Amino acid sequence: MKRVGVGSREPGVGSREPGTGSGKGVATADKPRIVIADDEQSMREWMRLLFQRDGFDVLIAEDGVKAKELVANEYVDVVLTDIRMPRLDGVSLLKSIRESAPDVIVAMMTAHWSQDSNEWNQARLGGAAALFEKPFRDVNDVTRHVRQLLESRRLRHENVVLRETTADMGFAGIIGRSPAMLEVFRLVEQVCRTNSTVLISGESGTGKELVARAIHSLSLRRDRPFVAVNCGAMPEALLESELFGHVRGAFTSADKDKKGLIEAGDGGTIFLDEIGEMPPTMQVKLLRVLQERKYRRVGGTEEQSSNIRVIAATNRDLPKQVSEGKFREDLFYRLNVIPLTMPALRYRADDIPLIADHFLVKYTKEMNKTIDGFAVDTSAALRAYPWPGNVRELENVVERAVALESERQVQIGTLPENIQKGRPATSRPGDVAEAGEGFNLERHLQDIERSHLERALERADGVQTRAADVLGLSFRQFRYLIKKHGIKRES
Ligand SMILES: Nc1ncnc2c1ncn2[C@@H]1O[C@H](COP(=O)(O)OP(=O)(O)OP(=O)(O)O)[C@@H](O)[C@H]1O
Ligand SMILES: [Mg+2]
Repeated sequence: MKRVGVGSREPGVGSREPGTGSGKGVATADKPRIVIADDEQSMREWMRLLFQRDGFDVLIAEDGVKAKELVANEYVDVVLTDIRMPRLDGVSLLKSIRESAPDVIVAMMTAHWSQDSNEWNQARLGGAAALFEKPFRDVNDVTRHVRQLLESRRLRHENVVLRETTADMGFAGIIGRSPAMLEVFRLVEQVCRTNSTVLISGESGTGKELVARAIHSLSLRRDRPFVAVNCGAMPEALLESELFGHVRGAFTSADKDKKGLIEAGDGGTIFLDEIGEMPPTMQVKLLRVLQERKYRRVGGTEEQSSNIRVIAATNRDLPKQVSEGKFREDLFYRLNVIPLTMPALRYRADDIPLIADHFLVKYTKEMNKTIDGFAVDTSAALRAYPWPGNVRELENVVERAVALESERQVQIGTLPENIQKGRPATSRPGDVAEAGEGFNLERHLQDIERSHLERALERADGVQTRAADVLGLSFRQFRYLIKKHGIKRES
């Protein structure tokens, strides 16, 4: 069995996995939590007092099996374990925790200690963070040492986050410095330290997958796999075997056992893209993985346990799908432990030049061309365009421009015609008749609104009172709208 940190405490994040009912995994604010595993009751009780006095939240285990269960079901920072114990000894416990919950610090203690004993070697090689000899010479040494281990884990983590931050461009390969993106970075930084399920929503091309990968690569799971699956891209039966695997003979073409992604990604992160497309029966099975960390291979009878972090993404309005009965409400709440919304590019126009430059550098390098930047009117057009396809569309436009450009700067004429005019190809009212799958009226109206504001400003030579008149709006209404769309005065 491999389970880890279900309902982990999330430092600084205001939400918590709901509805376990038992108050599982809820540790008091900032107290570190330690599991003391020892088969001797007096020792357990004494250590409990010792660590409680030192400000720890203490859980007790009388053997390795119990300790393993605690690590699987509770939020735990440290395990301090005896080596010789019934049912499961300390070294085996260490091994299992290193695999299932590598972020948990394991320290060991033994009365049968000698530098060259087999146990000592096994503990050391198995990754024990510290080894204490019983009886302790100075008990304060033990608590002090455990505190130090916690502190160095914290520092190690902060370093990873710092390394990934570049002050002027963005965070972990995600470009942006608009307030909306800074908020995204703040959330990513907080959730990467937890095992909590994250639900990322946002329009197509806003960077949902990029953010999911960033969370994984900043987390303690970074050395384990990141597996991604598009829940809308395949028929139900295939999706099920893709996720859960199958046993030989489960269906005609199943000529051997096959691992599913949940198993292949064990210890890592699974990215469930387009979760809103998941068929109802699969929703039930996924719920079980989230609730009990259990599943069965297709055609299999054996229960499998999973230690995988789930990050889901959707470009649909999931609460609305819930209210329409198309998506299970219980699953929605299980997924929505930490909601993260990717802002559309048109609401963070300040990021447009930054991202455009980033892709310009990338594609000039790739295509071996010399282009230094965008001409002034090209930049203005890029900024004015509402980018219904978001960053992905911007990337494609820059890539195409780099391929076509023969000057040292990207000229406005090199951009697609609709972008030269700052209007999306789809924002003509006539398009409503053609509205089909994926059409979003709200977004469409926003695009039209924005393009009217921009054209009014253009006609009024940037004089806002005049532009407001052109549109028959009060100055206050006008100001409100240009602020909402992030349109800068001078445009
Ligand atoms: N802030 C950003 N900085 C740099 N690149 C970005 C940023 N946002 C998105 N991208 C790039 O844009 C492309 C689209 O991003 P991604 O695939 O993460 O979007 P998505 O939200 O998952 O879209 P969809 O809903 O269509 O799947 C990717 O190539 C990604 O690397
Ligand atoms: Mg995607």
